[in-house]
Amino acid sequence: MKDTAPQTIYLKDYTPFGFDVESVHLTFDLSPNATRVMSRIAFAPNPEATDHRFYLHGKKLTLIKAAINGEPVRPEVTDEGLTCPVPDGSFIWECEVEIDPEGNTALEGLYMSNGMYCTQCEAEGFRKITYYPDRPDVMSVFTVEIKGPHPVLLSNGNPQVQGQGHAIWHDPWPKPAYLFALVAGELVAHSDSFTTCSGKAVDLNLYVRPGDEGKCAFGMEALKKSMQWDEEVYGREYDLDVFNIVAVDDFNMGAMENKGLNVFNSSAVLASPETATDGNFERIEAIIAHEYFHNWTGNRITCRDWFQLCLKEGLTVYRDSQFTSDLRSAAVKRISDVIDLRARQFPEDQGPLAHPVRPESFQEINNFYTATVYEKGAEVIGMLKRLVGDADYARALDLYFARHDGQACTIEDWLQVFEDVTDRDLAQFKRWYSQAGTPRLAVRDEWKDGTYTLHFSQSLPASAASPDPQPQVIPISVGLLDPNGDEVLPTRMLEMTEATQSFAFEGLAARPVPSILRGFSAPVVLDRDVGTAERAFLLAHDTDPFNRWEAGRALARETLMAMATTGAPAGADYLDGMLAVLRDADLDPAYRALMLGQPSQSELAAALAEAGTTPDPDAIWQASETLALAMAQHAQDVLPRILAECRVDGPYRPDPDQTSKRALGGRALSLVTRLDGGTQAAAQYAAADNMTLQLSALGCLLAAGKGSAEVAAFYDQWQDDRLVIDKWFGMQIAQAVPDKAATIVAALTEHADFNWKNPNRFRATLGALTMNHAGFHAADGSGYRLLADWLIRLDPVNPQTTARMCSAFQTWRRYDSDRQSKIGTELERIASTAGLSPDTTEMITRIRG
Ligand code: ARG
Ligand code: ZN
Repeated sequence: MKDTAPQTIYLKDYTPFGFDVESVHLTFDLSPNATRVMSRIAFAPNPEATDHRFYLHGKKLTLIKAAINGEPVRPEVTDEGLTCPVPDGSFIWECEVEIDPEGNTALEGLYMSNGMYCTQCEAEGFRKITYYPDRPDVMSVFTVEIKGPHPVLLSNGNPQVQGQGHAIWHDPWPKPAYLFALVAGELVAHSDSFTTCSGKAVDLNLYVRPGDEGKCAFGMEALKKSMQWDEEVYGREYDLDVFNIVAVDDFNMGAMENKGLNVFNSSAVLASPETATDGNFERIEAIIAHEYFHNWTGNRITCRDWFQLCLKEGLTVYRDSQFTSDLRSAAVKRISDVIDLRARQFPEDQGPLAHPVRPESFQEINNFYTATVYEKGAEVIGMLKRLVGDADYARALDLYFARHDGQACTIEDWLQVFEDVTDRDLAQFKRWYSQAGTPRLAVRDEWKDGTYTLHFSQSLPASAASPDPQPQVIPISVGLLDPNGDEVLPTRMLEMTEATQSFAFEGLAARPVPSILRGFSAPVVLDRDVGTAERAFLLAHDTDPFNRWEAGRALARETLMAMATTGAPAGADYLDGMLAVLRDADLDPAYRALMLGQPSQSELAAALAEAGTTPDPDAIWQASETLALAMAQHAQDVLPRILAECRVDGPYRPDPDQTSKRALGGRALSLVTRLDGGTQAAAQYAAADNMTLQLSALGCLLAAGKGSAEVAAFYDQWQDDRLVIDKWFGMQIAQAVPDKAATIVAALTEHADFNWKNPNRFRATLGALTMNHAGFHAADGSGYRLLADWLIRLDPVNPQTTARMCSAFQTWRRYDSDRQSKIGTELERIASTAGLSPDTTEMITRIRG
């Protein structure tokens, strides 16, 4: 048996590679089970390196032959790579390997999806294509020749030859191997063009499988908007003659920013009004922007090593959130991002998987494409911008692009440009990159002789990742309101640097009501004893849209916690406050829709656990149901008017105006369904001419225990559309009552369309189970067992998707001892599976703690 003991890699051990790669020439002779890859690589000693051993990564490759300067060589080959004596000075490495794209179910390297060839090389997939120094600090110019019987043959850069069965692509921009891409297949293009700010025409193509041509228009528009926005806001111009996007059905993640050839999960790019929801359209627009923005933040300036992943991901998430805020509602975007951060990043930061935004060690880098690196990484950039101000942020970014274009950089390089531009010392700020965990910010206020003082204290719980936490710089946006709800102090940024710190506001006529952490100015947990009346006041009057929403959210959370633990009735302040918001026709419908949304059941479980109460998933579920019914009854009289107000006339458009109306209309319908048992939902379902209305009606019916006819009809209508059938799987599970969830999932895994090797379908099914809180945590352990069964089955086929889904267990220590022991048993069962992948082994080991 070979030794598979996972290796831990440390940031502190970084050393540069011993050689520069001056050029790469690759030839692909495509064949499903025996693709030949010929490489011709010019190496030269790297003057900056001290270690000049020649080592190339390579995995699952059959070496056919190798030569140095034309002379055959016999390298020493292991499962992970090869070594070979090399001459002094520069030399040409030539090598031929054989690979099996069809047998590549891990979807990493070169693989096949529905008969088309495609690649995913980030983070370390290129080594499954050929022998190479597969590390991001080795950058080179690639020329790629493709031979295969396919009408479309694509790679990075600009096309040099495009003929039947033969193509040559040349990418003039030096890049690391993780940005390499190749696509071949029977594809059709949706084409357009964009003229850059300096007048260069760029050909744009979105390649899809025949039949999907009608789902391309929106993605193409989003691409053009992204290109324009990056010119206008960041001064970044596109740098090749073509920009290609390809939609792929089997893909582990959302999308990938390969230079000039972005590869997208089809769910992250294909959309038509009939098949995609408003939410899908918004997500597609954001992902297109994200991948496009990587061309500068990621590709032109890349990462020195994978510990620096947030250098490109945090920044690019931050940039795509700015883009969405500019195109749509900034308030709605901010609130949605915070909901997402609390749902995905906070549990990670507060559990056994906690790691700094810049981790210091890993076993499998794919396990670190996390909410912490991406979303907290973006929050850190938002804080930096708040601290230095918009003008200095812009100057720092200009300097970053000017100084580091063409380089592989570190967080130190990033912070240095800010220090140089602002003369600030960012040593303390840097702790946001090195300390894991969510800081808690406690605040107490004091009113005396016309002076109002806020006393803050910050604390970061010690964790394995950060055993001795130090105070961080926290930008705290504060506004003060007078008792009439008028601002006596407009938003001001307090810069907290000490463990405890007080800020006084003098010369006030009356004790103000504070609005603290406006816009969620830092990713912390705010601890403050606030009475329901003050929350209700802020819900009615706060001039900061985020904090106004936050006040409603806090009221909801507090009433739900009381309902779940003591059986208290729904809180009157919450119901009255929400009703007033719902009625306020001056408020953006999308904003009202967010207000009406309840905190998720898993967020409530976290809040209870934090307050020292063991969460009971059934009681939480029951409380959520009861509150929704109480809200429906309370709002009974206004709901018909809201539904009417939200009706959209004219053709479907996924624009902010229509989307906003449908969002509120969807909330209203779900409340109405609690009162009429589904009459109006059934009518909406029958009349729907777009997926947003059709799916929201179906969800309402299922939640009401109805809808079996619609479920069958939906399947008949959409059985040939994979992306819609994913929704069909997902919705039945999302709406399953807790004690039936595992049974329903188990039945769906028997369905002929349950293709478990397709990550989208696996996520729509098993992933949906993990998100049905009470269903997944069913007391009999059926949810845990079912998930573990499938993770064990998927692991040898697709370790990456398996490992990601293990995080469903990360919160296990919150629950009662019976549930903990049931989860513990499943974790043990997974861990002891023979041949378990290093990916899943690392995740389970960390979760078990
Ligand atoms: N860089 C891609 C993005 O941000 C994510 C790709 C990650 N893929 C992976 N297998 N870890 O959109
Ligand atoms: Zn990214």
